Amino acid sequence: MGSGQTVAVFGAYGHTGRFVVAELRERGYVPLLLGRDQNKLRALAQTHPGLGVRQASVDDPASIDRALEGVAAVINCAGPFAATAAPMVEAALRAGIAYVDVAAEIEANLDTFAHFAERANAAGTVVVPAMAFYGGLGDLLVTTAMGDWTTADEVHVAYGLSSWRPTGGTVASGVVSQQRRGGRRVRYTGGHVEYHDDALPTVQWHFPAPLGPQSVIAEFTMADIVTIASHLTVPEIRTYMTAKAAAELSAPYASAPDAVDERGRSAQTFVVDVLVRSGGTERRLAAAGQDIYAVSAPLAVEAVDRILTGRTRGTGVASAGAIFDAPDFLRAISSHLSLHLSPGIRG
Ligand SMILES: NC(=O)c1ccc[n+]([C@@H]2O[C@H](COP(=O)([O-])OP(=O)(O)OC[C@H]3O[C@@H](n4cnc5c(N)ncnc54)[C@H](OP(=O)(O)O)[C@@H]3O)[C@@H](O)[C@H]2O)c1
Repeated sequence: MGSGQTVAVFGAYGHTGRFVVAELRERGYVPLLLGRDQNKLRALAQTHPGLGVRQASVDDPASIDRALEGVAAVINCAGPFAATAAPMVEAALRAGIAYVDVAAEIEANLDTFAHFAERANAAGTVVVPAMAFYGGLGDLLVTTAMGDWTTADEVHVAYGLSSWRPTGGTVASGVVSQQRRGGRRVRYTGGHVEYHDDALPTVQWHFPAPLGPQSVIAEFTMADIVTIASHLTVPEIRTYMTAKAAAELSAPYASAPDAVDERGRSAQTFVVDVLVRSGGTERRLAAAGQDIYAVSAPLAVEAVDRILTGRTRGTGVASAGAIFDAPDFLRAISSHLSLHLSPGIRG
């Protein structure tokens, strides 16, 4: 259980921020509700009596500094992260506290590594970008599946989503990323990020039962290409998305997911199936669960808990698979994920 330390949540009243606030409380931490809109903060505070509220804007560094006073760590849930990640990391470095975010934006995550690696390391501060369903979970699964391998020829991460009703933040982040790419597509091949205009093929992916074979969009490139490539030497990293979920993501009247249980989770289910290949050998591991937004909360909060209790491998900017004991991390959140281990992989 948490130590009663205060953990700030920026973007606390967003869809994902609310799950993170609830998870922090459940784990014995005291969330401090941060955001740019005082009215939305007050409304959220009414559902969490006793929690503190501080207004902060990324355009006003002094407001962020005030908001982070007395805080042990900050979880940034305010996206698009192209606008929020850098000012919040800067503030975390000034405050000397750990920073974790849930960014799924490839370019924003690359920026966090590129701009802050040296300074975070020199300051002895831990910065973990993409500590969520996209980016974080795939990296933990791949790192676990790799086992004693530090290199592989190929990594494949297939997302089997039953549906995907994106939140406003997801849609806005997608628009920003598209603009940053000039409308081009992105993939990871030959050991680097490459922009291209090729059509994305639809292929069949055989997920573990009960999901089974599904049509998936190949090269539906997600943040995992950043997190995995940050610490594992793999020239080819491909991510796939069930065709149905990909179509819903671009549907014009998409609306945020409805809650169907007492935790506020939607009915959406997921399987993340990873396959790593080296020479003629394959290793495979999958995780299944409910609601990609909700599961991002135990991922981010477990990361903060490990940082605050000294269970990290070093400091600086690092992905989940690099800085945490990946199999142990996955075991710790097993009430939120069911793992499907292939023979030969120790969980
Ligand atoms: N990697 C993953 O798997 C994963 C998982 C979950 C979420 N995410 C990402 O997390 C972000 C939020 O998602 P969500 O589902 O919570 O969306 P949401 O419900 O629409 O909430 C977005 C939140 O971000 C805040 N925000 C946006 N721009 C801001 C800015 N410039 N300054 C301060 N606050 C700002 C919003 O505040 P206002 O209401 O004041 O605008 C709101 O609190 C998205 O980028 C999404 O892609 C990623």
